[in-house]
Amino acid sequence: MSNQASPAPIVIGPNLGWPAFPKLKAKHRLTDPKHNAAARINVRRNVSDFRRKYDWTLYTPEALEIVEGHWDEITALLASFLPERLQQPSAAIRGINLGTFNGAFQKAWMRRGYSMYGVEIASVIDELHAYGCEGHQDNIFTLPKIADGTFDFGVLDRVICNEGFYSTKDPTSGVEAKGVPPFFKAIVRILKPGGSLIGILYGWYTRLVIEELASYGSLKLWPVGNEYHLGFQVDLAGPPSVLPDVGTVPFDSEYFRTTSRGHVFIPTNEIVEEISGVRKTRFFPTGGTPVAS
Ligand SMILES: C[S@@+](CC[C@H](N)C(=O)[O-])C[C@H]1O[C@@H](n2cnc3c(N)ncnc32)[C@H](O)[C@@H]1O
Repeated sequence: MSNQASPAPIVIGPNLGWPAFPKLKAKHRLTDPKHNAAARINVRRNVSDFRRKYDWTLYTPEALEIVEGHWDEITALLASFLPERLQQPSAAIRGINLGTFNGAFQKAWMRRGYSMYGVEIASVIDELHAYGCEGHQDNIFTLPKIADGTFDFGVLDRVICNEGFYSTKDPTSGVEAKGVPPFFKAIVRILKPGGSLIGILYGWYTRLVIEELASYGSLKLWPVGNEYHLGFQVDLAGPPSVLPDVGTVPFDSEYFRTTSRGHVFIPTNEIVEEISGVRKTRFFPTGGTPVAS
């Protein structure tokens, strides 16, 4: 596959909805493990609402079936980000779920018919294996145990969400650089040259993040669910992509959407104001250091 063709503009897909978490019945409600130690309860105490949405160990078998239906819906949405040639599931297509936790979405990809592997930084690999998934503990920024060109596609779904996640450690000096690319080099290394990286960025993505993704191949972006989520596909078989000029691209083009906060430049989450014909950019949302455009 050649990556030598001239760069093409980033493509913006339509706004996509994010599936709602299912409503569970009273019998699925929080149970105190002290009173019911043997049961696989729905939702443990002291577990954040957020983690409840992707931790299979928190559910009774009956509730798990309901929640797995929800994970299947999200995975169907993610699968729609794959290049067409990878959309027909097959055990011969090998994917890797990057930041897989204990397997909720990895298993949903397996139910779709793909061969899936997972890596996760947290110490939950026993739970991952107990759920019937393959994988090991690793850091998506380094992935030292995985050979080059191993996977047809990688899924990076809501793993990177604040500046702290965008950090790379220099292997020789041990110095950690936050918010400085490359962020995806190790991931791209373990994908086949004709493969693809898909996923959802949320909360904190910047021009540097998008430009790096665009440098690896054809980049397509989808606003997902709300103003903080950005679905993406990097097709490594395609030519690198370029960002349009935020200073001149029309506000009514597909690159902008207008919200209560103003004109949001979809590729980089910047809000752009125009006063007396002059455009000024401010970063949104806050929580990260603004990156000059
Ligand atoms: C919010 S969850 C998203 C759901 C998850 N992608 C899935 O498939 O179930 C993000 C996961 O990414 C993991 N993670 C964060 N940084 C990581 C890193 N540098 N390397 C590997 N995993 C990481 C977190 O520990 C967490 O389990």
